Amino acid sequence: MMLTSLPTHQALLEHFEAFKDVHMRELFNDDRNRFSNYSLQAPHVFIDYSKNRINKTSLSLLFKLAKEAQLSEQIHSLFTGEDFNHQALNNTEQRKVLHTLLRQPYSNKKQDLVIDTENLSDDVRRCHQKMHSFLSKVHDRKYIGAKGKAIDTLVSIGIGGSFLGPKMVTDALASYAIDGFTCHYVANIDSTDLYDTLSQIDPDSTLFLIQSKTFTTLETLENANAVKAHLKSIGFSDADIAQHLAAVTSNEQVALDLGIPSDRIFPMWDWVGGRYSLWSAIGLPIAFVIGMDNFKRLLSGAHQMDQHFLNTPLDQNAPVILGLLAIWYQNYFQTSSHTILAYEQYLKTFPDHLQQLDMESNGKHVSRSGEALTYNTGPIIWGGIGCNGQHAYHQLLHQGSHLLPSDFITCLSTHHPIAEHHKHLFSNCLSQSKTLMSGKTKEEAFNELLKQGMSENEAKRLAPHKENKGNQPSNTLVMEKLTPEALGALTALYEHKTFVQSAIWGINAFDQWGVELGKTLGKEIYQAMSDMEKAKLLDSSTLGLLSLYKR
Ligand code: F6P
Repeated sequence: MMLTSLPTHQALLEHFEAFKDVHMRELFNDDRNRFSNYSLQAPHVFIDYSKNRINKTSLSLLFKLAKEAQLSEQIHSLFTGEDFNHQALNNTEQRKVLHTLLRQPYSNKKQDLVIDTENLSDDVRRCHQKMHSFLSKVHDRKYIGAKGKAIDTLVSIGIGGSFLGPKMVTDALASYAIDGFTCHYVANIDSTDLYDTLSQIDPDSTLFLIQSKTFTTLETLENANAVKAHLKSIGFSDADIAQHLAAVTSNEQVALDLGIPSDRIFPMWDWVGGRYSLWSAIGLPIAFVIGMDNFKRLLSGAHQMDQHFLNTPLDQNAPVILGLLAIWYQNYFQTSSHTILAYEQYLKTFPDHLQQLDMESNGKHVSRSGEALTYNTGPIIWGGIGCNGQHAYHQLLHQGSHLLPSDFITCLSTHHPIAEHHKHLFSNCLSQSKTLMSGKTKEEAFNELLKQGMSENEAKRLAPHKENKGNQPSNTLVMEKLTPEALGALTALYEHKTFVQSAIWGINAFDQWGVELGKTLGKEIYQAMSDMEKAKLLDSSTLGLLSLYKR
Protein backbone atom coordinates (compact mmCIF):
# COMPACT_ATOMS: atom_id res chain seq x y z
CA MET A 1 0.00 0.00 0.00
CA MET A 2 1.32 3.40 -1.02
CA LEU A 3 -0.15 6.84 -0.33
CA THR A 4 -0.13 7.66 -4.05
CA SER A 5 -2.17 4.58 -4.90
CA LEU A 6 -5.01 5.46 -2.54
CA PRO A 7 -8.05 6.67 -4.55
CA THR A 8 -8.50 9.84 -2.45
CA HIS A 9 -4.90 10.97 -3.03
CA GLN A 10 -5.90 12.42 -6.43
CA ALA A 11 -8.89 14.20 -4.89
CA LEU A 12 -6.60 15.68 -2.25
CA LEU A 13 -4.20 16.92 -4.93
CA GLU A 14 -7.10 18.66 -6.68
CA HIS A 15 -8.43 20.09 -3.44
CA PHE A 16 -4.93 21.33 -2.61
CA GLU A 17 -4.66 23.17 -5.96
CA ALA A 18 -7.93 24.94 -5.31
CA PHE A 19 -7.24 25.70 -1.66
CA LYS A 20 -3.50 26.30 -1.36
CA ASP A 21 -3.62 30.11 -1.52
CA VAL A 22 -6.50 30.62 0.89
CA HIS A 23 -5.34 32.64 3.87
CA MET A 24 -6.27 31.55 7.39
CA ARG A 25 -7.39 35.11 8.05
CA GLU A 26 -10.23 34.51 5.59
CA LEU A 27 -11.05 31.17 7.20
CA PHE A 28 -11.35 32.82 10.62
CA ASN A 29 -13.39 35.73 9.19
CA ASP A 30 -15.78 33.33 7.48
CA ASP A 31 -16.40 31.12 10.48
CA ARG A 32 -16.91 32.70 13.87
CA ASN A 33 -16.99 29.24 15.45
CA ARG A 34 -13.76 28.07 13.91
CA PHE A 35 -12.16 27.53 17.32
CA SER A 36 -14.94 25.27 18.59
CA ASN A 37 -15.30 23.56 15.23
CA TYR A 38 -11.62 22.68 15.08
CA SER A 39 -10.63 21.80 18.62
CA LEU A 40 -11.07 18.85 20.93
CA GLN A 41 -10.42 17.64 24.43
CA ALA A 42 -8.30 14.48 24.52
CA PRO A 43 -7.25 12.92 27.85
CA HIS A 44 -5.22 15.59 29.70
CA VAL A 45 -4.52 17.52 26.49
CA PHE A 46 -6.77 20.09 24.86
CA ILE A 47 -5.97 20.54 21.18
CA ASP A 48 -6.77 23.64 19.14
CA TYR A 49 -6.14 22.83 15.49
CA SER A 50 -8.13 25.74 14.08
CA LYS A 51 -4.98 27.61 12.99
CA ASN A 52 -4.41 25.15 10.16
CA ARG A 53 -4.84 25.64 6.42
CA ILE A 54 -7.84 23.36 6.25
CA ASN A 55 -11.57 23.49 5.78
CA LYS A 56 -14.26 20.82 6.16
CA THR A 57 -13.46 19.39 2.72
CA SER A 58 -9.75 19.04 3.52
CA LEU A 59 -10.55 17.13 6.69
CA SER A 60 -13.19 14.87 5.21
CA LEU A 61 -10.83 13.94 2.36
CA LEU A 62 -8.05 13.21 4.85
CA PHE A 63 -10.35 10.97 6.91
CA LYS A 64 -11.34 9.18 3.70
CA LEU A 65 -7.66 8.69 2.89
CA ALA A 66 -7.15 7.23 6.36
CA LYS A 67 -9.96 4.73 5.80
CA GLU A 68 -8.48 3.69 2.46
CA ALA A 69 -5.11 3.19 4.16
CA GLN A 70 -6.92 0.87 6.62
CA LEU A 71 -5.83 3.04 9.52
CA SER A 72 -8.35 1.52 11.94
CA GLU A 73 -7.14 -1.98 11.08
CA GLN A 74 -3.54 -0.88 11.64
CA ILE A 75 -4.46 0.66 15.01
CA HIS A 76 -6.10 -2.65 15.90
CA SER A 77 -2.82 -4.46 15.13
CA LEU A 78 -0.89 -2.00 17.27
CA PHE A 79 -3.03 -2.88 20.27
CA THR A 80 -3.56 -6.59 19.68
CA GLY A 81 -0.22 -7.68 18.33
CA GLU A 82 -2.14 -9.31 15.47
CA ASP A 83 -0.67 -9.22 11.98
CA PHE A 84 -1.70 -6.49 9.58
CA ASN A 85 -2.12 -7.76 6.02
CA HIS A 86 -0.62 -11.11 7.10
CA GLN A 87 2.56 -9.53 8.44
CA ALA A 88 3.85 -8.39 11.85
CA LEU A 89 3.69 -4.60 12.19
CA ASN A 90 7.47 -4.64 12.42
CA ASN A 91 7.77 -6.88 9.37
CA THR A 92 11.51 -6.46 8.72
CA GLU A 93 12.50 -7.69 12.16
CA GLN A 94 9.52 -10.05 12.51
CA ARG A 95 8.54 -8.47 15.81
CA LYS A 96 5.28 -7.59 17.40
CA VAL A 97 4.84 -4.01 18.49
CA LEU A 98 3.19 -3.94 21.88
CA HIS A 99 4.54 -1.03 23.90
CA THR A 100 0.96 -0.06 24.79
CA LEU A 101 0.84 -3.24 26.90
CA LEU A 102 3.43 -1.66 29.23
CA ARG A 103 0.94 0.92 30.43
CA GLN A 104 -2.16 -1.24 30.55
CA PRO A 105 -3.49 -1.63 34.10
CA TYR A 106 -3.24 -5.28 35.14
CA SER A 107 -6.83 -5.27 36.39
CA ASN A 108 -8.06 -4.29 32.93
CA LYS A 109 -6.53 -7.33 31.33
CA LYS A 110 -9.81 -8.87 30.27
CA GLN A 111 -11.23 -5.69 28.82
CA ASP A 112 -8.21 -5.02 26.66
CA LEU A 113 -7.53 -6.33 23.26
CA VAL A 114 -4.07 -7.80 23.41
CA ILE A 115 -4.07 -11.45 22.50
CA ASP A 116 -1.77 -12.37 25.28
CA THR A 117 -1.03 -16.01 24.52
CA GLU A 118 2.50 -15.60 25.80
CA ASN A 119 1.37 -13.97 29.07
CA LEU A 120 3.33 -10.86 28.25
CA SER A 121 1.30 -8.78 30.69
CA ASP A 122 2.42 -11.12 33.50
CA ASP A 123 6.02 -10.39 32.50
CA VAL A 124 5.25 -6.67 32.72
CA ARG A 125 3.64 -7.08 36.14
CA ARG A 126 6.61 -9.08 37.42
CA CYS A 127 9.01 -6.46 36.06
CA HIS A 128 7.11 -3.63 37.77
CA GLN A 129 7.13 -5.63 41.01
CA LYS A 130 10.89 -6.12 40.75
CA MET A 131 11.35 -2.38 40.11
CA HIS A 132 9.06 -1.62 43.03
CA SER A 133 10.79 -3.82 45.58
CA PHE A 134 14.26 -2.67 44.51
CA LEU A 135 13.30 1.01 44.62
CA SER A 136 11.49 0.67 47.96
CA LYS A 137 14.78 -0.49 49.44
CA VAL A 138 16.62 2.40 47.78
CA HIS A 139 14.08 5.03 48.85
CA ASP A 140 14.09 3.65 52.41
CA ARG A 141 17.87 4.19 52.27
CA LYS A 142 18.39 0.51 52.85
CA TYR A 143 20.33 -0.18 49.68
CA ILE A 144 23.85 0.30 50.98
CA GLY A 145 26.90 0.65 48.76
CA ALA A 146 30.14 -1.25 49.24
CA LYS A 147 31.65 1.52 51.36
CA GLY A 148 28.69 1.72 53.74
CA LYS A 149 26.83 4.67 52.25
CA ALA A 150 23.16 4.49 51.22
CA ILE A 151 22.63 4.78 47.46
CA ASP A 152 20.96 8.09 46.55
CA THR A 153 22.39 8.78 43.08
CA LEU A 154 21.84 6.95 39.83
CA VAL A 155 24.04 7.22 36.76
CA SER A 156 22.12 5.89 33.80
CA ILE A 157 24.40 4.72 31.00
CA GLY A 158 22.56 4.25 27.72
CA ILE A 159 21.95 5.93 24.37
CA GLY A 160 19.10 6.48 21.89
CA GLY A 161 15.84 5.18 23.29
CA SER A 162 17.71 3.94 26.35
CA PHE A 163 18.48 7.58 27.15
CA LEU A 164 16.27 10.19 25.48
CA GLY A 165 12.88 9.08 26.83
CA PRO A 166 13.94 8.63 30.48
CA LYS A 167 15.97 11.87 30.33
CA MET A 168 13.01 13.80 28.91
CA VAL A 169 10.70 12.50 31.65
CA THR A 170 13.10 13.08 34.55
CA ASP A 171 13.59 16.64 33.26
CA ALA A 172 9.87 17.18 32.79
CA LEU A 173 8.85 15.80 36.18
CA ALA A 174 11.73 17.26 38.18
CA SER A 175 9.27 18.90 40.56
CA TYR A 176 8.09 15.40 41.60
CA ALA A 177 11.61 14.30 42.61
CA ILE A 178 11.93 12.55 45.95
CA ASP A 179 14.11 14.68 48.19
CA GLY A 180 17.73 13.66 48.10
CA PHE A 181 17.58 11.36 45.05
CA THR A 182 19.19 12.39 41.77
CA CYS A 183 19.96 10.91 38.41
CA HIS A 184 22.66 11.68 35.83
CA TYR A 185 22.81 10.42 32.27
CA VAL A 186 25.84 9.34 30.28
CA ALA A 187 25.15 8.58 26.63
CA ASN A 188 28.01 9.68 24.44
CA ILE A 189 31.28 7.95 23.57
CA ASP A 190 32.81 11.42 23.84
CA SER A 191 34.66 10.90 27.13
CA THR A 192 33.76 14.39 28.30
CA ASP A 193 30.24 13.10 28.93
CA LEU A 194 31.46 10.46 31.39
CA TYR A 195 34.19 12.69 32.81
CA ASP A 196 31.69 15.46 33.62
CA THR A 197 29.37 13.04 35.34
CA LEU A 198 32.03 11.27 37.35
CA SER A 199 33.28 14.62 38.58
CA GLN A 200 29.84 15.46 39.96
CA ILE A 201 29.05 12.29 41.89
CA ASP A 202 30.18 10.46 44.98
CA PRO A 203 30.83 6.87 43.80
CA ASP A 204 30.20 5.51 47.30
CA SER A 205 26.52 6.50 47.10
CA THR A 206 26.04 5.94 43.36
CA LEU A 207 24.47 3.09 41.43
CA PHE A 208 25.48 2.75 37.77
CA LEU A 209 22.58 1.46 35.68
CA ILE A 210 23.57 0.05 32.28
CA GLN A 211 20.59 0.54 29.99
CA SER A 212 20.70 -1.34 26.72
CA LYS A 213 18.02 -3.45 25.12
CA THR A 214 20.62 -5.34 23.08
CA PHE A 215 23.66 -4.95 25.33
CA THR A 216 25.71 -4.68 22.14
CA THR A 217 25.75 -0.89 21.74
CA LEU A 218 29.31 0.40 21.52
CA GLU A 219 28.86 3.69 23.39
CA THR A 220 27.05 2.04 26.28
CA LEU A 221 29.41 -0.89 26.67
CA GLU A 222 32.53 1.30 26.45
CA ASN A 223 31.10 3.64 29.08
CA ALA A 224 30.10 0.69 31.31
CA ASN A 225 33.62 -0.73 31.11
CA ALA A 226 35.15 2.70 31.76
CA VAL A 227 33.01 3.05 34.90
CA LYS A 228 34.17 -0.35 36.13
CA ALA A 229 37.80 0.65 35.50
CA HIS A 230 37.24 3.94 37.31
CA LEU A 231 35.76 2.21 40.36
CA LYS A 232 38.67 -0.23 40.39
CA SER A 233 41.15 2.66 40.17
CA ILE A 234 39.68 4.22 43.31
CA GLY A 235 39.97 1.03 45.34
CA PHE A 236 36.74 -0.90 44.69
CA SER A 237 37.13 -4.70 44.60
CA ASP A 238 35.20 -6.75 42.01
CA ALA A 239 32.56 -7.53 44.65
CA ASP A 240 32.33 -3.82 45.55
CA ILE A 241 31.88 -2.91 41.90
CA ALA A 242 29.10 -5.46 41.48
CA GLN A 243 27.31 -3.86 44.41
CA HIS A 244 27.20 -0.58 42.45
CA LEU A 245 25.94 -1.98 39.13
CA ALA A 246 22.50 -2.73 37.73
CA ALA A 247 21.21 -3.25 34.20
CA VAL A 248 18.13 -3.19 32.02
CA THR A 249 18.37 -5.48 29.01
CA SER A 250 16.84 -8.27 26.98
CA ASN A 251 20.32 -9.83 26.74
CA GLU A 252 20.69 -11.04 30.31
CA GLN A 253 23.71 -13.28 29.75
CA VAL A 254 25.94 -10.41 28.54
CA ALA A 255 24.93 -8.35 31.56
CA LEU A 256 25.80 -11.29 33.84
CA ASP A 257 29.16 -11.60 32.04
CA LEU A 258 29.82 -7.95 32.83
CA GLY A 259 29.52 -8.83 36.51
CA ILE A 260 25.99 -7.57 37.18
CA PRO A 261 24.08 -9.80 39.65
CA SER A 262 20.84 -11.23 38.27
CA ASP A 263 18.69 -9.70 41.02
CA ARG A 264 19.67 -6.30 39.63
CA ILE A 265 19.08 -7.12 35.96
CA PHE A 266 15.69 -5.83 34.86
CA PRO A 267 14.10 -7.27 31.72
CA MET A 268 13.37 -5.76 28.30
CA TRP A 269 11.59 -7.47 25.44
CA ASP A 270 11.87 -7.55 21.66
CA TRP A 271 8.26 -6.36 21.34
CA VAL A 272 9.26 -2.95 22.75
CA GLY A 273 11.19 -0.64 20.42
CA GLY A 274 13.95 1.48 21.98
CA ARG A 275 12.17 4.78 21.30
CA TYR A 276 8.97 3.40 22.88
CA SER A 277 10.71 1.93 25.93
CA LEU A 278 10.54 4.62 28.61
CA TRP A 279 7.42 2.84 29.94
CA SER A 280 9.40 -0.35 30.60
CA ALA A 281 12.25 -0.92 33.08
CA ILE A 282 14.21 1.48 30.82
CA GLY A 283 12.14 4.00 32.84
CA LEU A 284 13.91 2.90 36.04
CA PRO A 285 15.82 6.22 36.31
CA ILE A 286 12.44 7.98 36.21
CA ALA A 287 11.06 5.85 39.04
CA PHE A 288 14.36 6.22 40.93
CA VAL A 289 13.87 9.98 40.96
CA ILE A 290 10.08 10.41 41.23
CA GLY A 291 9.10 7.10 42.87
CA MET A 292 7.15 4.15 41.57
CA ASP A 293 3.75 5.72 42.36
CA ASN A 294 4.44 8.72 40.16
CA PHE A 295 5.90 6.43 37.48
CA LYS A 296 2.57 4.56 37.51
CA ARG A 297 0.72 7.88 37.18
CA LEU A 298 2.78 8.49 34.04
CA LEU A 299 1.76 5.08 32.70
CA SER A 300 -1.86 5.78 33.56
CA GLY A 301 -1.87 9.03 31.55
CA ALA A 302 -0.40 7.20 28.57
CA HIS A 303 -2.99 4.44 28.94
CA GLN A 304 -5.80 7.00 28.87
CA MET A 305 -4.43 8.34 25.60
CA ASP A 306 -4.15 4.76 24.30
CA GLN A 307 -7.82 4.20 25.04
CA HIS A 308 -8.74 7.44 23.31
CA PHE A 309 -6.70 6.45 20.23
CA LEU A 310 -8.14 2.95 20.15
CA ASN A 311 -11.78 3.76 20.77
CA THR A 312 -12.51 7.21 19.35
CA PRO A 313 -13.91 7.67 15.82
CA LEU A 314 -11.26 8.93 13.42
CA ASP A 315 -12.78 12.40 13.07
CA GLN A 316 -12.55 13.09 16.83
CA ASN A 317 -9.35 11.20 17.45
CA ALA A 318 -6.47 13.46 18.53
CA PRO A 319 -3.48 11.43 17.26
CA VAL A 320 -5.34 10.73 14.01
CA ILE A 321 -6.11 14.40 13.42
CA LEU A 322 -2.55 15.52 14.23
CA GLY A 323 -1.11 12.76 12.03
CA LEU A 324 -3.38 13.59 9.09
CA LEU A 325 -2.61 17.31 9.36
CA ALA A 326 1.08 16.42 9.20
CA ILE A 327 0.42 14.38 6.04
CA TRP A 328 -1.52 17.30 4.55
CA TYR A 329 1.49 19.60 4.90
CA GLN A 330 4.19 17.06 4.14
CA ASN A 331 2.69 15.49 1.03
CA TYR A 332 0.49 18.24 -0.44
CA PHE A 333 2.10 21.52 0.64
CA GLN A 334 5.49 19.70 0.36
CA THR A 335 6.80 20.93 3.70
CA SER A 336 9.74 19.08 5.20
CA SER A 337 9.84 20.03 8.85
CA HIS A 338 7.71 20.17 11.95
CA THR A 339 8.52 22.54 14.80
CA ILE A 340 7.90 21.85 18.49
CA LEU A 341 7.55 25.03 20.55
CA ALA A 342 7.18 24.10 24.20
CA TYR A 343 6.03 26.97 26.40
CA GLU A 344 6.83 25.02 29.57
CA GLN A 345 10.38 25.09 30.89
CA TYR A 346 10.15 21.51 32.14
CA LEU A 347 9.65 20.31 28.56
CA LYS A 348 13.10 21.49 27.54
CA THR A 349 14.19 18.07 26.28
CA PHE A 350 10.80 17.09 24.84
CA PRO A 351 11.86 18.07 21.28
CA ASP A 352 14.96 15.82 21.63
CA HIS A 353 12.78 12.85 22.52
CA LEU A 354 10.39 13.61 19.65
CA GLN A 355 13.32 13.81 17.24
CA GLN A 356 14.18 10.19 17.89
CA LEU A 357 10.57 9.10 18.14
CA ASP A 358 9.46 10.61 14.84
CA MET A 359 12.64 10.72 12.77
CA GLU A 360 13.90 7.23 13.63
CA SER A 361 10.40 5.84 13.14
CA ASN A 362 9.42 7.60 9.94
CA GLY A 363 12.74 8.39 8.24
CA LYS A 364 12.09 5.69 5.64
CA HIS A 365 12.40 5.52 1.85
CA VAL A 366 10.62 2.27 1.02
CA SER A 367 7.15 0.90 1.73
CA ARG A 368 6.49 -2.04 4.04
CA SER A 369 6.88 -4.30 1.02
CA GLY A 370 10.16 -2.70 -0.04
CA GLU A 371 8.99 -0.54 -2.98
CA ALA A 372 10.76 2.80 -3.42
CA LEU A 373 8.52 5.65 -2.29
CA THR A 374 7.83 8.56 -4.62
CA TYR A 375 6.81 10.90 -1.80
CA ASN A 376 8.39 12.35 1.31
CA THR A 377 8.01 10.66 4.66
CA GLY A 378 9.22 11.69 8.12
CA PRO A 379 9.66 15.44 8.58
CA ILE A 380 12.64 17.05 10.26
CA ILE A 381 11.61 17.62 13.88
CA TRP A 382 13.14 20.64 15.52
CA GLY A 383 12.30 23.21 18.15
CA GLY A 384 12.89 24.24 21.72
CA ILE A 385 11.32 26.18 24.51
CA GLY A 386 9.43 29.46 24.38
CA CYS A 387 9.98 32.31 24.98
CA ASN A 388 13.68 31.62 24.34
CA GLY A 389 13.03 30.66 20.73
CA GLN A 390 11.15 33.92 20.10
CA HIS A 391 14.41 35.81 20.44
CA ALA A 392 16.19 33.46 18.08
CA TYR A 393 14.75 31.16 15.42
CA HIS A 394 11.18 32.47 15.42
CA GLN A 395 12.36 35.05 12.87
CA LEU A 396 12.45 32.20 10.35
CA LEU A 397 8.91 31.18 11.29
CA HIS A 398 7.63 34.72 10.88
CA GLN A 399 9.42 35.93 7.78
CA GLY A 400 11.45 33.08 6.32
CA SER A 401 10.58 31.57 2.97
CA HIS A 402 9.57 28.09 4.18
CA LEU A 403 6.14 26.89 5.16
CA LEU A 404 6.79 25.65 8.71
CA PRO A 405 3.97 23.87 10.54
CA SER A 406 4.44 23.85 14.30
CA ASP A 407 2.98 22.69 17.59
CA PHE A 408 2.76 25.04 20.54
CA ILE A 409 2.65 23.10 23.81
CA THR A 410 1.72 24.89 27.01
CA CYS A 411 0.10 24.54 30.43
CA LEU A 412 -2.55 26.60 32.21
CA SER A 413 -0.50 26.72 35.39
CA THR A 414 3.08 26.33 36.50
CA HIS A 415 4.67 24.41 39.34
CA HIS A 416 6.59 27.51 40.37
CA PRO A 417 4.55 30.70 40.12
CA ILE A 418 6.54 33.92 40.39
CA ALA A 419 4.89 37.33 39.99
CA GLU A 420 3.20 37.59 36.55
CA HIS A 421 5.67 35.28 34.79
CA HIS A 422 3.20 32.59 33.82
CA LYS A 423 0.68 35.09 32.49
CA HIS A 424 3.43 36.54 30.29
CA LEU A 425 4.50 33.08 29.17
CA PHE A 426 0.98 32.07 28.18
CA SER A 427 0.23 35.33 26.40
CA ASN A 428 3.50 35.12 24.49
CA CYS A 429 2.56 31.64 23.37
CA LEU A 430 -0.80 32.91 22.08
CA SER A 431 0.72 36.01 20.49
CA GLN A 432 3.14 33.86 18.50
CA SER A 433 0.54 31.44 17.15
CA LYS A 434 -1.81 34.34 16.41
CA THR A 435 0.84 36.29 14.50
CA LEU A 436 1.96 33.22 12.60
CA MET A 437 -1.65 32.70 11.57
CA SER A 438 -2.73 36.22 10.68
CA GLY A 439 0.56 37.91 9.84
CA LYS A 440 0.69 41.59 8.96
CA THR A 441 0.09 42.89 5.46
CA LYS A 442 2.36 45.41 3.74
CA GLU A 443 -0.49 47.89 3.86
CA GLU A 444 -0.94 47.44 7.61
CA ALA A 445 2.79 47.86 8.12
CA PHE A 446 2.78 51.00 5.93
CA ASN A 447 -0.13 52.59 7.84
CA GLU A 448 1.46 51.76 11.18
CA LEU A 449 4.68 53.47 10.11
CA LEU A 450 2.76 56.54 8.96
CA LYS A 451 1.00 56.66 12.31
CA GLN A 452 4.38 56.63 14.02
CA GLY A 453 5.14 59.84 12.12
CA MET A 454 7.30 58.45 9.36
CA SER A 455 7.36 60.10 5.95
CA GLU A 456 5.46 58.36 3.16
CA ASN A 457 8.66 57.54 1.30
CA GLU A 458 10.36 56.09 4.33
CA ALA A 459 7.24 54.09 5.28
CA LYS A 460 7.09 52.71 1.73
CA ARG A 461 10.73 51.71 1.91
CA LEU A 462 10.36 49.94 5.26
CA ALA A 463 6.90 48.35 4.83
CA PRO A 464 8.08 45.25 2.89
CA HIS A 465 10.57 44.48 5.66
CA LYS A 466 7.82 44.72 8.27
CA GLU A 467 5.35 42.59 6.36
CA ASN A 468 4.65 39.16 7.87
CA LYS A 469 2.86 36.95 5.39
CA GLY A 470 1.33 34.83 8.14
CA ASN A 471 -0.62 31.73 7.07
CA GLN A 472 1.92 29.60 9.00
CA PRO A 473 -0.05 26.68 10.43
CA SER A 474 0.10 25.58 14.04
CA ASN A 475 -1.62 23.42 16.62
CA THR A 476 -1.84 24.50 20.23
CA LEU A 477 -1.76 21.74 22.84
CA VAL A 478 -2.82 22.80 26.31
CA MET A 479 -2.52 20.87 29.55
CA GLU A 480 -3.84 22.01 32.95
CA LYS A 481 -0.44 21.43 34.56
CA LEU A 482 2.53 19.24 33.73
CA THR A 483 1.59 16.31 35.97
CA PRO A 484 2.84 12.73 35.45
CA GLU A 485 -0.54 11.82 33.91
CA ALA A 486 -0.48 14.79 31.54
CA LEU A 487 3.08 14.05 30.43
CA GLY A 488 2.19 10.38 29.89
CA ALA A 489 -0.79 11.36 27.76
CA LEU A 490 1.19 13.96 25.79
CA THR A 491 4.02 11.52 25.04
CA ALA A 492 1.62 8.76 23.99
CA LEU A 493 -0.22 11.29 21.80
CA TYR A 494 2.98 11.90 19.83
CA GLU A 495 3.79 8.17 19.66
CA HIS A 496 0.40 7.55 18.09
CA LYS A 497 0.62 10.57 15.80
CA THR A 498 3.91 9.11 14.53
CA PHE A 499 2.19 5.77 13.96
CA VAL A 500 -0.71 7.37 12.08
CA GLN A 501 1.70 8.98 9.62
CA SER A 502 3.53 5.70 9.06
CA ALA A 503 0.21 3.95 8.48
CA ILE A 504 -0.78 6.40 5.75
CA TRP A 505 2.66 6.32 4.16
CA GLY A 506 2.63 2.51 4.23
CA ILE A 507 6.00 2.28 5.96
CA ASN A 508 7.40 0.29 8.89
CA ALA A 509 7.79 2.76 11.77
CA PHE A 510 9.47 0.24 14.04
CA ASP A 511 12.78 -0.65 12.42
CA GLN A 512 15.89 1.57 11.98
CA TRP A 513 18.18 -0.03 9.41
CA GLY A 514 19.84 3.29 8.57
CA VAL A 515 21.09 3.74 12.14
CA GLU A 516 22.15 0.09 12.25
CA LEU A 517 24.34 0.73 9.16
CA GLY A 518 25.98 3.66 10.98
CA LYS A 519 26.85 1.32 13.86
CA THR A 520 28.52 -1.20 11.51
CA LEU A 521 30.45 1.47 9.60
CA GLY A 522 31.67 2.99 12.87
CA LYS A 523 33.25 -0.34 13.79
CA GLU A 524 34.87 -0.73 10.35
CA ILE A 525 36.50 2.70 10.45
CA TYR A 526 37.66 2.10 14.00
CA GLN A 527 39.40 -1.07 12.81
CA ALA A 528 40.87 0.77 9.81
CA MET A 529 42.57 3.16 12.24
CA SER A 530 44.98 0.42 13.20
CA ASP A 531 44.89 -1.71 10.03
CA MET A 532 46.48 -0.13 6.96
CA GLU A 533 45.11 -2.80 4.63
CA LYS A 534 41.56 -1.91 5.69
CA ALA A 535 42.33 1.81 5.59
CA LYS A 536 43.47 1.56 1.97
CA LEU A 537 39.98 0.43 0.97
CA LEU A 538 38.46 3.71 2.20
CA ASP A 539 37.52 6.63 -0.04
CA SER A 540 40.11 9.41 -0.24
CA SER A 541 38.19 11.82 1.99
CA THR A 542 37.72 9.34 4.82
CA LEU A 543 41.29 8.12 4.48
CA GLY A 544 42.60 11.70 4.44
CA LEU A 545 40.70 12.62 7.59
CA LEU A 546 41.78 9.42 9.29
CA SER A 547 45.42 10.22 8.49
CA LEU A 548 44.99 13.63 10.15
CA TYR A 549 43.90 11.86 13.34
CA LYS A 550 46.83 9.45 13.23
CA ARG A 551 49.44 12.18 12.64
O1 F6P B 1 20.92 3.86 17.51
C1 F6P B 1 19.90 2.98 17.16
C2 F6P B 1 19.35 2.27 18.32
O2 F6P B 1 19.11 0.99 17.88
C3 F6P B 1 18.08 2.89 18.89
O3 F6P B 1 16.95 2.52 18.21
C4 F6P B 1 18.14 2.38 20.28
O4 F6P B 1 17.23 3.05 21.10
C5 F6P B 1 19.58 2.66 20.59
O5 F6P B 1 20.25 2.26 19.42
C6 F6P B 1 20.15 1.97 21.79
O6 F6P B 1 20.05 0.59 21.67
P1 F6P B 1 20.26 -0.35 22.92
O7 F6P B 1 19.20 -0.04 23.91
O8 F6P B 1 20.15 -1.74 22.39
O9 F6P B 1 21.62 -0.08 23.48
